[in-house]
Amino acid sequence: MAVLDHVTSQQAINLENKYGAHNYHPLPVVLSRGEGVFVWDVEGKKYYDFLSAYSAVNQGHCHPRIVGAMTEQAQTLTLTSRAFYNDMLGKFEKYASETFKFDKLLPMNTGAEAVETALKICRKWAYEVKGIDENEAEIVVCENNFHGRTTTIISFSNDPVARKNFGPYTKGFIKIDYDNLDALEHTLKTNSNVAGFLVEPIQGEAGVYVPTEGYLEKAKALCKKYNVLFIADEVQTGIARTGKMLAVDHENVKPDILILGKALSGGAYPVSAVLANDNIMNVIQPGNHGSTFGGNPIAAAVAMAALEVVKDEDLANNAHQLGELFRSELSKFIETSSIVNAVRGKGLLNAILINDTEDSDTAWNICLKLRDNGLLAKPTHGNIIRFAPPLVMTKEQLLDCVAIVTKTLKEFE
Ligand SMILES: Cc1ncc(COP(=O)(O)O)c(C=O)c1O
Repeated sequence: MAVLDHVTSQQAINLENKYGAHNYHPLPVVLSRGEGVFVWDVEGKKYYDFLSAYSAVNQGHCHPRIVGAMTEQAQTLTLTSRAFYNDMLGKFEKYASETFKFDKLLPMNTGAEAVETALKICRKWAYEVKGIDENEAEIVVCENNFHGRTTTIISFSNDPVARKNFGPYTKGFIKIDYDNLDALEHTLKTNSNVAGFLVEPIQGEAGVYVPTEGYLEKAKALCKKYNVLFIADEVQTGIARTGKMLAVDHENVKPDILILGKALSGGAYPVSAVLANDNIMNVIQPGNHGSTFGGNPIAAAVAMAALEVVKDEDLANNAHQLGELFRSELSKFIETSSIVNAVRGKGLLNAILINDTEDSDTAWNICLKLRDNGLLAKPTHGNIIRFAPPLVMTKEQLLDCVAIVTKTLKEFE
């Protein structure tokens, strides 16, 4: 079979099953095209994308400005490595640093790499600025976190599937309950070796857990009090997803270290970044950290275009308004429904809780039916279904999606 031969859905699934490692369990649908809020399968059936590649495609599929920037740069200069300067990286670093109000940016490719980068910066800061004894630094993380898949990151995960048989694990992390300020204060007070607190402003993968209002602001204040870096992982929540440019903006919190990925490129290219001010970022010196592809000219061009689109199309505001509408429509439905227990979220990062046990396959079966009815979503954990459409959605399209979702759910009453 030649690479460009047309494949049916079943052929594509068979190929992945036979020749690909089974590290995912995809919904059986094979996509071959995307535009805005829509994707099409290889047989030509059209769907609303209600996942946005885990919030990477906030700007919509194949946004012409992002694709334009990418193709133009791809025809000019793709990769220099950081052995040399290139004429795009500095422009991107300035643009993103000014957008998010930090002194400096360190470019990487994936979210997990950016998290690793933040952890390394935090540890180095601990030894060289805070004065913690070498190899004694601890970083506080939350139960049920999701920060990626590297050996260090899964070392502080509590998802058994992500962890089991990947040990030995990296030391230096203290796990506390999410959304629990007493636990945070107790840990900071009783442990002078804490260097940082790594937190998702909303826990996305865990099932869209929105912390109590004021949690982030008070957690940041505690970090300041104990001279600990507040590290916000906005890989999933950032870039307008929750109705503000950053989820921490809802509480006017400025992280000491900000981690971005996914929609930083509009889903067109792997681009991630860590931002911090000079007093922190300057601990990184030549040779301490890097990546062959991090900061390449295509990534820089794509990320600038992706951020411009978010601002010019006022996507944060759209996410805010459509999110309110989505939750209010779903709440009305829930009053009359026995299949859904709750809807929760912020902006266009939402989830519904299916009224069944965590190990049931009801949420999966609902997603299969949603697919048949023209909308793609996926359970996060067990009985929770995440809904995160591209932020370029219109009100009419959202109401259309609400109709598909409620009609589908009624089939399971
Ligand atoms: C909060 C958070 N951090 C980090 C990551 C890892 O990003 P990547 O899959 O690009 O490595 C994710 C991915 O879902 C995420 O949601």
